[in-house]
Amino acid sequence: MSYYVTTPIYYVNGEPHLGHAYSTIAADILARHHRQRGEDVFFLTGTDEHGEPVAQQAEREGVTPRELGDRLAPRFKRMAAKVEASNDFFIRTTDEGHVKRVQEVVQRVHDNGHVYEGTYEGLYCPRCADFKTESEVAEGNTCPIHGIELTKEKQDNWFFKLSAFQEDLERLYEERPDFVTPDFRRNEALSFIKQGLRDVSLSRPTLKWGVPVPWDTEQVIYVWFDALLNYYTALGYAREDEDLTGRYWPAFHILAKDILKFHAVYWPAFLMAAELELPRGMFIHGFLLMEGQKMSKSLGNVLDPDEVIEKFGADALRYYCFREVSFGQDGQISPAGFEARYDSELANEFGNLANRTLSMVSRYRASVVPEAEPDPALAPDFEGVPDRFNELLDGAELSQALEDAWKLVRRLNRYVEESRPWDLAKAGPGREAEEPALDVARLDQVLYSLAEGLRVAALLLHSYMPDTTGRLLGALGEPDRGLAAFGSRGGGQAVEKIPPLFPKLEAESGD
Ligand code: MSP
Repeated sequence: MSYYVTTPIYYVNGEPHLGHAYSTIAADILARHHRQRGEDVFFLTGTDEHGEPVAQQAEREGVTPRELGDRLAPRFKRMAAKVEASNDFFIRTTDEGHVKRVQEVVQRVHDNGHVYEGTYEGLYCPRCADFKTESEVAEGNTCPIHGIELTKEKQDNWFFKLSAFQEDLERLYEERPDFVTPDFRRNEALSFIKQGLRDVSLSRPTLKWGVPVPWDTEQVIYVWFDALLNYYTALGYAREDEDLTGRYWPAFHILAKDILKFHAVYWPAFLMAAELELPRGMFIHGFLLMEGQKMSKSLGNVLDPDEVIEKFGADALRYYCFREVSFGQDGQISPAGFEARYDSELANEFGNLANRTLSMVSRYRASVVPEAEPDPALAPDFEGVPDRFNELLDGAELSQALEDAWKLVRRLNRYVEESRPWDLAKAGPGREAEEPALDVARLDQVLYSLAEGLRVAALLLHSYMPDTTGRLLGALGEPDRGLAAFGSRGGGQAVEKIPPLFPKLEAESGD
């Protein structure tokens, strides 16, 4: 079975920030999770380098758009690596392979009769590269996303007959209720469709920066069609020796609500026009907010992923984003919030559990997990967990799945308190400390159950926190990475003690 997951491709009009990292991490968790399930996974991310959003920024900086892209694309590539993204390819829309394939598909859409020449007049946001419909315009003719004044633009160009796909789109939404998730986003897209679709520009005059229209050198392809097609073109040239399209297409897309319309309306219609298979689905997430506002370069309230990673580590960042903000909703993040969860959840709950378990096995059982039956007091808490976890992640419910895994971490901590292995290990009255523990069988069972529970939890958390859980699984003597049921592995493995997974943060001076 194959699984193909994508992030939006990011405009190279500014440095990457935590908002971009968020979508990349989300897609990475899904990619890693599906690999854990033994699937053949392809994970794509990259940069969107054409169109006004980039051309205008280049002009402001007095460089060419290509120079801007050449400077910033590596920054986005580096950000992906820094957050431990396991992407299989990094696409740049200036890649020759992309440009060629975009032209092929657009030509096909033209040849299939879905393109005509016309004039467009409307209110335009150059940051969104989007003409706004009446209902999308905020007060004072401003862009609701960027807050800047919209410009009235009139253009002669090529049009894509979006309106002709109205019924097909309505049918698609009816037949595949999970085409767009969560539900409230699906409803939003569907109501946009039902309002009546207008045709959209497929091209722009050539003074703009982009991929030439194959049958008209005066025009370049509108940046949104160029950009959306990245999901398809990449498979054609990501590997020199193999066209991956048949192996991976279609994709599952991760994106935020700001670009819902393009993905949930234009994109499926365009694929229908090109006679290509439609996406497997898409999950629309919310915005990370800082002090109540969307984190964005134009608002200047961004957190630099490098700084956050420097302080907390990439795993902590990956964890925090999906724990603090319910995936799908908007949510506040803050450095103080990071710190609080790092301390109380990662260092205290998870880190201590790992540390205590490894220490007790090494101290009381000479570093070998004892052979024992799983404790019936603990087993019910693990019942059905991997299946439910898979189901949640099938629906890209990243926060809910994480919550399920975390419940186990908390349960295991309570189990330590309830079963008090240190008492079980103590010599009884009148015994020497070296003599066997009071109840050898019980201590074996508790230590086995703890190590087993920790193994199961670490496997669940592995796609979220690959580095720390990888180290922990290594210390538990677990070579496999697939999800496991509680009790599916016996004892007998040697364990190792390791340094704290989440060391306490250094107190900052002045705090
Ligand atoms: N280039 C287009 C996307 C083309 S996809 C075929 C674009 N680029 S962008 O650089 O503006 O990135 C937008 C995406 O970045 C959002 O949809 C979201 O995935 C991510 N985010 C940017 N800021 C964000 C937040 N503050 N919070 C959450 N996600 C954010 O649009």
